[in-house]
Amino acid sequence: MVPSQTLVCAAVLALAVLQALASDTFIAAVYEHAVILPRTIHKVSPADALALMNRNMDVLEGAVKEAAQQGARIIVTPEDGIYGWVFTRETIYPYLEDIPDPEVNWIPCTDPTRFGRTPVQERLSCMARNNSIYVVANIGDKKPCNSSDPNCPSDGRYQYNTDVVFDSEGKLVARYHKYNLFRQETQFNYPKEPEFITFETPFGKFGVFTCFDILFREPAVVLASELQVDTVLFPTAWMNVLPFLTAVEFHSAWAMGMGVNLLSANTHNTIMSMTGSGLFTPHGPALYYYNSKTEEGRLLVAELNARPRLSPNYPAAVNWSSYATSVKNYSRENETFPGAVRRDIFTFSELKHKAGNHTVCQKDLCCHLAYRMSNKSKDEVYVLGAFDGLHGSVIKYHWQICTLLKCKSTDLSTCGQPAETAETKFAMFSLSGTFGTNYVFPEVLYSGVQLAPGEFEVLSDGRLQSKNGTSKPLLTVTLFGRCYEKDLPHPLRSFLFLHNKKRKQL
Ligand SMILES: *[C@@H]1O[C@H](CO)[C@@H](O)[C@H](O)[C@H]1NC(C)=O
Ligand SMILES: *[C@@H]1O[C@H](CO)[C@@H](O)[C@H](O)[C@H]1NC(C)=O
Ligand SMILES: *[C@@H]1O[C@H](CO)[C@@H](O)[C@H](O)[C@H]1NC(C)=O
Ligand SMILES: *[C@@H]1O[C@H](CO)[C@@H](O)[C@H](O)[C@H]1NC(C)=O
Ligand SMILES: *[C@@H]1O[C@H](CO)[C@@H](O)[C@H](O)[C@H]1NC(C)=O
Ligand SMILES: *[C@@H]1O[C@H](CO)[C@@H](O)[C@H](O)[C@H]1NC(C)=O
Ligand SMILES: *[C@@H]1O[C@H](CO)[C@@H](O)[C@H](O)[C@H]1NC(C)=O
Ligand SMILES: *[C@@H]1O[C@H](CO)[C@@H](O)[C@H](O)[C@H]1NC(C)=O
Repeated sequence: MVPSQTLVCAAVLALAVLQALASDTFIAAVYEHAVILPRTIHKVSPADALALMNRNMDVLEGAVKEAAQQGARIIVTPEDGIYGWVFTRETIYPYLEDIPDPEVNWIPCTDPTRFGRTPVQERLSCMARNNSIYVVANIGDKKPCNSSDPNCPSDGRYQYNTDVVFDSEGKLVARYHKYNLFRQETQFNYPKEPEFITFETPFGKFGVFTCFDILFREPAVVLASELQVDTVLFPTAWMNVLPFLTAVEFHSAWAMGMGVNLLSANTHNTIMSMTGSGLFTPHGPALYYYNSKTEEGRLLVAELNARPRLSPNYPAAVNWSSYATSVKNYSRENETFPGAVRRDIFTFSELKHKAGNHTVCQKDLCCHLAYRMSNKSKDEVYVLGAFDGLHGSVIKYHWQICTLLKCKSTDLSTCGQPAETAETKFAMFSLSGTFGTNYVFPEVLYSGVQLAPGEFEVLSDGRLQSKNGTSKPLLTVTLFGRCYEKDLPHPLRSFLFLHNKKRKQL
């Protein structure tokens, strides 16, 4: 009697533990914000700068309140969401605040004068505290320096693109200086070293980075793979680039490839082609938004798994080359042709038939596709493409890409140019490649830049395949691989480094 009762108790206990794990979810929010931009490109007074930032924070505060009312524990707002992006080093200065290291244990809402003039931090902290919600925002940090530091810029200060996180009591709990600045961000400095910023909450371990960071190893991959965060907070000001780098497409793929939640808040500006935010999980989007027609912002709220790695259906590890290295080779080299996706020269092969198997190779990468179209339009051409090489003009970083994509027109020379709509649905696709990396991000994009939640899967042998055909016409199916170890040194950072060494020798 006793042993079996113990067994029953153990079983009940195990069930309770499982249920506790299974119910370990939280509600999160992201806000896509149509940033109110400064009216002038000239330098303004600190008071005028604050007035503009307050107009943006009025809108963000509305979103924070609404998110809190819907039960959200945390809300992410976009990069440049409080003052925009059209600045020089000089003209952004009045918008900056000195942001202390969170170690100082500071609640700006209750102690606003402790670190000088910090009205933006005070207001963000009060938004968090008044609504009992974590608030993630992107603002500018300034750090004075002088000739005792050989790298100190001639104007006597560093300026950083910075994410801040305030907890539900308004305390500053994280500060992250963007490491991978995008090319025109000359208003900001590169931090000397990458920062790996994480913090624990009752609803999981969080990490934070910004926009262009997502394409590089440091800090993004380190946070997900080594520091094992559950959820990444991702303020961004992302310009959509078809066919592989629209915001929702790539950010959703990164969350799947890395096996983490990613809370992505984009700015909304259709002229700049900025739209696309979402709450992405290891299984695909919980909720996303893409709208190139209107000028309004949008709040997204969804329930997520707090610790996806502990979930019983967490995706198994993938060997991205396993299937493709074992499959029969269907390559027909006499039928391939080169084509440009922006500046990258891909090797393409046209899918001439309604169904079939194709292989296309470039350098070390062979891509294999099995497919069946359900209603091929005569006015549409699809190709299978491969690319293995360095991408980028200033910063050069290594891509390995296998892609099935719709050409812009039936003229083969348009293959790789942006196409936003399609008419052909697929009854089946299965794409794989002989990747030389573990970092591969699976993308499926439908006509109208729409995602395909639940309609495809990644098998542990590296095949990206449809479950039961595509419910909408297909723009692209892509395996986007990154070979971080083959990236060239960053030219601007190495310039700084050489510059430093030279100065130190003098
Ligand atoms: C927070 O609440 C206080 C007191 O009710 C109020 O004065 C303040 O304006 C509120 N601030 C924000 C940002 O919600
Ligand atoms: C230079 O800056 C350092 C800290 O960055 C400070 O300790 C020092 O007093 C400054 N020196 C002068 C001459 O301002
Ligand atoms: C992935 O699969 C390939 C082919 O089956 C095999 O050679 C390779 O060792 C595997 N890689 C890992 C990391 O298991
Ligand atoms: C397939 O064939 C092409 C050329 O015929 C060759 O370059 C490539 O290495 C082969 N790929 C595989 C996976 O065997
Ligand atoms: C390419 O080669 C294959 C096999 O040798 C042949 O069947 C096909 O007709 C050739 N295609 C062209 C366009 O020459
Ligand atoms: C293409 O490959 C699939 C397996 O992925 C196989 O079932 C099918 O028979 C192949 N088709 C041809 C025409 O070889
Ligand atoms: C294929 O089906 C889709 C959706 O059902 C439709 O929009 C499209 O026009 C069809 N294409 C052709 C070529 O009939
Ligand atoms: C699979 O797709 C077909 C055609 O779109 C549809 O009729 C069928 O209901 C789908 N089956 C499942 C299990 O979703």
